[in-house]
Amino acid sequence: MNLPIAFIDEANKLVFESSKNQARAWELGIFYLKVPSWLDLKAARCFGQEILKADSPYRDIPQYGDLEGFISLENNQQTKLALRRHRWDEHYPTEITQFGRQLDDIGRAVMGEVFCQSGIPEPLWSEASGGYSSGEGTAFLNFVHYDTAQPDLGLRPHTDYGFVTILDATSPGLQIELEGQFCDVPVLDGHLVINFGEALNFITQHSNRSVAAIVHRVTSQGAENPVRHGIVYFANPDLDGALKQFDVQGREVGSSSVGDLFTLLEQKLTNYK
Ligand SMILES: [Fe+2]
Repeated sequence: MNLPIAFIDEANKLVFESSKNQARAWELGIFYLKVPSWLDLKAARCFGQEILKADSPYRDIPQYGDLEGFISLENNQQTKLALRRHRWDEHYPTEITQFGRQLDDIGRAVMGEVFCQSGIPEPLWSEASGGYSSGEGTAFLNFVHYDTAQPDLGLRPHTDYGFVTILDATSPGLQIELEGQFCDVPVLDGHLVINFGEALNFITQHSNRSVAAIVHRVTSQGAENPVRHGIVYFANPDLDGALKQFDVQGREVGSSSVGDLFTLLEQKLTNYK
């Protein structure tokens, strides 16, 4: 699987080797990003390994709702420490909160390029994205590993609901669906994997260039495999916010509350299972 490769330049802009590569990334909804030199991935990976230990104090972080805290999910092998941006300062060590803010920068750079390509006038970007592109919205920074005692898929097939997902995984397992077949996305040393989500597909639908939200899954991890660690960042709209669809003339052509869009996606996901 040869995914397109991008990097972030000094002006914090997302750049591809060629416009053809970029077009392919937009059509597929996934690409590799060269790890920026300023991103301290090593410290974040160490933290991810640290929380595996049974006596790690981070295992005591309380659960907030269904999605945050130290949680294991049903129907897959994932166990994770998951927190939204407004809780990072309280629970994560300083360097991890900083790491999260750097991923915010990457998320905004990706969103900025998607908006540039879309032709939607820049003054409308913030309103279209429920504030994310101007530094609001929300984001999750999650540290994941896979419990090989669970005889399930690592992660069942799904599309991500938000705008942009940034993934650092230490071993193979990620697969994307292409023409009805699941294909491996190999770990490419020195690169993150970035994919687009449904909310970004929604807000670009009536623009010059929409992005795809790709179906993906993680294969079942066995006890014989190396422990699969993942760091996952989700750039998301606020759950109580709204998303707007603009065309290149800046006309509002559609909108949805985030809650309604996510409910619709949840039904689709149930059908998919
Ligand atoms: Fe996902």
